[in-house]
Amino acid sequence: MKILVTYLTVTGNTKKVADAIFGVIEEEKTIQPISEVNDIGGYDLTFVGSPMHGFGLDNTVKEFIEEKAKGKNIALFVTHASPEGDEPLQGWLDSCKEAAAGANLVGFFECQGEMSKELADAMVKLDDPNLAAWGKMRDETLGQPDVTRLERARVFAREAMSKVS
Ligand SMILES: Cc1cc2nc3c(=O)[nH]c(=O)nc-3n(C[C@H](O)[C@H](O)[C@H](O)COP(=O)(O)O)c2cc1C
Repeated sequence: MKILVTYLTVTGNTKKVADAIFGVIEEEKTIQPISEVNDIGGYDLTFVGSPMHGFGLDNTVKEFIEEKAKGKNIALFVTHASPEGDEPLQGWLDSCKEAAAGANLVGFFECQGEMSKELADAMVKLDDPNLAAWGKMRDETLGQPDVTRLERARVFAREAMSKVS
């Protein structure tokens, strides 16, 4: 079995999850930023990682899945700054999964990732009180994804691989 791990990351959180997943793969494996991947046709399973950007997948990742992953086995992982289990987050995560509707989604993983200072600083200045309050939660995200979340990512990776092998 040939497995690819590909991801987009701006501040490193999604790459941490990608590295954890890559570490537990005992098959023939490759890890590459999404910008370097042209074709996933040669892989039996592709792990695709994205930061949540604007209440859904980053657009580059969305387009990648729509254009290159049609009918292919993919396992999607997403990092977001919202607290896990937060109510609005559930709808945003659903939209991430919907973006993979044309692929064969064999697994989905999400966890919190640290909110960048730049994002927090921009959010707290917004007039919308909900978005401003969200920006103030940065301290509660520091250090994420932590060891517990990375371990959960490893479990997710093993489960996804067991569905394809
Ligand atoms: C432009 C932008 C938009 C974002 N939108 C959301 C969002 O809608 N919901 C959310 O929970 N986090 C959002 N975030 C936070 C990131 O998803 C989160 O910090 C993620 O872990 C960053 O991953 P990375 O370090 O791999 O880039 C946003 C961050 C940026 C920079």
